[in-house]
Amino acid sequence: MAKITYISFSGTETTVDVKPGLSIMEGAVKNNVRGIDGDCGGACACATCHVYVDEAWRAKTGERSAMEETMLDFAENVEANSRLSCQIKVTEELDGLVVRLPESQS
Ligand code: FES
Repeated sequence: MAKITYISFSGTETTVDVKPGLSIMEGAVKNNVRGIDGDCGGACACATCHVYVDEAWRAKTGERSAMEETMLDFAENVEANSRLSCQIKVTEELDGLVVRLPESQS
């Protein structure tokens, strides 16, 4: 299991255990973390799973794919550390990962 912390726009922190193999989006949806809807089920087609990856974790979470980049064009307040959380697979290496949610998902 990997502990993933989701921080809402208002600052509420929710830490949950997520099974490796699931995505960061699925970890949120399965644990009822508010602010990540995952409307498209993880197909990189809705951008309702937008998160900001904590700077300390950017290298470990990898780069955006071209498809993810295109979908992020439809999201609000995109920053350099923006990712679609359905495109980040949880691994043991990501134990302790912190992501923040944008205002549009508050
Ligand atoms: S769940 Fe739809 S883009 Fe991530």
